[in-house]
Amino acid sequence: MSSDVVGREAALASIRDFLAGVSAGATALVLEGEAGMGKTTLWAAGVAEAEALGLRVLQSRPAESETALSFSGVGDLLDAVLDEALAPLPDPQRRALSRALVLEEDDGPTLDRRAVGVAVLGALRSLAEATPVLVAIDDVQWLDAASSAALGYAARRLRAERIGVLTARRVPLESTLLAELSRSLPSERYTSVQVGPVDLTALHHVVHDHLGVALPRPFSPRCTRRPAGIRSTRSRSFECCSARESRSRQASRCPSLSRCRIWCMGDSSPYQRRVATSY
Ligand SMILES: Nc1ncnc2c1ncn2[C@@H]1O[C@H](COP(=O)(O)OP(=O)(O)O)[C@@H](O)[C@H]1O
Ligand SMILES: [Mg+2]
Repeated sequence: MSSDVVGREAALASIRDFLAGVSAGATALVLEGEAGMGKTTLWAAGVAEAEALGLRVLQSRPAESETALSFSGVGDLLDAVLDEALAPLPDPQRRALSRALVLEEDDGPTLDRRAVGVAVLGALRSLAEATPVLVAIDDVQWLDAASSAALGYAARRLRAERIGVLTARRVPLESTLLAELSRSLPSERYTSVQVGPVDLTALHHVVHDHLGVALPRPFSPRCTRRPAGIRSTRSRSFECCSARESRSRQASRCPSLSRCRIWCMGDSSPYQRRVATSY
């Protein structure tokens, strides 16, 4: 799997198992963790692996600013396979999906949302008959409600279809699509992978790969008992949150550490909580 991912062997193994299981019927895996923990990195590795395995990958990476744009998520997922997805559908379903995706005039009666759900299910089923399909949605908590409803309708009816759903969710934000999937799939076909902080060795690698610098020695002993997380930022400093004075000392010793913030997890001091939730 992707050489861009440092560490994370257990999570990568779960993704590999999940992808291997797609040909046995509907299945889902969600990567769950706080912002900056490395969910998208793992999600992208899963997408790359699925493509290498020959799965048909349908992707969507909704942004927070697009949560109110109805059906934008379904539009992204079907964008690359639109003709194939629409062709086998009965006329009323094709019309409903076409209207939802703004491929047709939207001046008729109110759009029948059930018809869109039926059409999405039909499109996914017919795609999966030819080739196993991976529906890959990053930041699923920002999927627009109309897409969540249509995909949720489909999810409730998936059984033996060769369709895998790979998502990443930023906690504590919720996703109605994930709620549907966890309710409707058998428990052994729904996997949740908790993406916590990377271990210190991996963190050293990530910082070195991204910034070309080694973490300063004083950083290590302070963090050995605590795993750490990393997140890109425009800030020109990094933060080690175990103590206020440690932060300023580390930052002043490492002026070249730009674009990254690093924090140690597990310290319940108010200062750390403020930093850890400020991204
Ligand atoms: N295991 C890892 N290997 C290499 N880089 C990583 C790893 N985890 C996180 N990163 C880097 O840290 C940053 C934040 O990771 P990202 O996957 O975007 O987090 P999230 O999606 O959880 O917010 C990115 O720049 C990413 O490249
Ligand atoms: Mg992300």
